[in-house]
Amino acid sequence: MPQITLSHVTKRWKGFYGVDDLSMVIDDNAFVTLLGPSGCGKTTTLRMIAGLETPTSGRITIGDEVVFDSAAGIDVPPNRRHVGFLFQNYALWPNMTVYQNIAFGLENDKAYTREMVRTRVDEVADIVKIGPFLKRYPAELSGGQQQRVAIARTLAPKPAVLFMDEPLSNLDAKLRLEMRSELQRLHIETGATFVYVTHDQMEAMTLATRICLMDNGVLQQYDAPLDVYHRPVNLFAADFVGNPAINFLNATGAQDGAGVKLDIFDSKTVLFTPSAAMTVADWYVAQAAADQDVAEKLEVRKAAKGYVEKENKESNFRYRVATAGELGGTPQDFSDSETDFVVGVRPEFVEIRESGAFEAEVYSSMPTGMETTVKLKIGELLVTGVIFGPAIYTIGQRVRFDIDGNGIMLFSRKNGRLIATGGLRSA
Ligand SMILES: Nc1ncnc2c1ncn2[C@@H]1O[C@H](COP(=O)(O)OP(=O)(O)OP(=O)(O)O)[C@@H](O)[C@H]1O
Ligand SMILES: [Mg+2]
Repeated sequence: MPQITLSHVTKRWKGFYGVDDLSMVIDDNAFVTLLGPSGCGKTTTLRMIAGLETPTSGRITIGDEVVFDSAAGIDVPPNRRHVGFLFQNYALWPNMTVYQNIAFGLENDKAYTREMVRTRVDEVADIVKIGPFLKRYPAELSGGQQQRVAIARTLAPKPAVLFMDEPLSNLDAKLRLEMRSELQRLHIETGATFVYVTHDQMEAMTLATRICLMDNGVLQQYDAPLDVYHRPVNLFAADFVGNPAINFLNATGAQDGAGVKLDIFDSKTVLFTPSAAMTVADWYVAQAAADQDVAEKLEVRKAAKGYVEKENKESNFRYRVATAGELGGTPQDFSDSETDFVVGVRPEFVEIRESGAFEAEVYSSMPTGMETTVKLKIGELLVTGVIFGPAIYTIGQRVRFDIDGNGIMLFSRKNGRLIATGGLRSA
């Protein structure tokens, strides 16, 4: 069964790099989601694997077969890559019944007798639960049913690899949720490898065995969803995943024994203790070595024939600090100093309690029944917390809170990368 490998795959249009030197392995039977903001290169990546877009350079293998290799001049056409593709705009043929729509691909395949086509259509119709609608025309179906027909049509030829580009984007919230769980089931039942494009982090989190998070054509992180959530490699990844979003707090400080002593909330001193022993100074030394390595590799690329200078070097990403009255938070600049940090706090680590180390005012409180999202105001800063269970707070109420647990993140404000995860306590 197929494993997909991308080695140094680049797609550029003149100096604009849509996908920049992407290397990754998609394991057999994986459910990989390509995630990232609009324009980051998700669709381009998928289309290159499927053979619908020709990479500028690099190498792609599906199973044992090299399907693309710029150096060797190999480019296998899409219909010989044995992949199924479900586009965002899955047009069904309006003048064909559901049955005919699903059977279409099979009827052109000489390996299928008429009897086999019927059996197969029934099978896939059963999987996506559209059995009763086979005689209807697309116009006689709801949007969600149409989408399921499109999925059935893609599944019918039993592709070992299935590519989907935002296949649920046309559905309402409830149906989306239902279809997500159907897709998860389908993935297990078919045993196929799924590669799934979405810009919806929740969808990526809940469906994937692994998330490929991209920004500006560059791979940021390729990890299991909960690893991206708990150990994001940088501020971008931390910010992109999680709802409500992570809290970013600017801090200044320095190594203090095994921990890092930090000033946050303007005047509060806290001690960050990393979960695994490390020092900030050592970390910066390792960073410098890694940066040097990347720079040297880039020099090699630049020296190669046909290299074109990259225009879109800079990502648009800026991290934001939530402040009262400022929707979406205030964009922050990076710093030159190694004594500047950013503390990342997921909302579930904010604990409101009387003995809490920090004092705040309730800025807003939004109960959903199962949980309550509370925004706390400390000076002009806002910190978002999620309190599980029913909790009633009134706006303006004074409360105290702690930042609990061992999942607190310490980022460098110099390069935006994760230094360590650990715990925070007031010092
Ligand atoms: N034919 C083209 N010529 C020039 N630039 C292109 C071309 N096709 C795509 N791009 C650019 O490449 C980048 C990546 O495009 P892509 O379609 O892969 O984005 P995406 O991540 O799928 O975004 P979205 O979430 O909006 O669908 C975009 O900035 C886009 O403008
Ligand atoms: Mg796209």
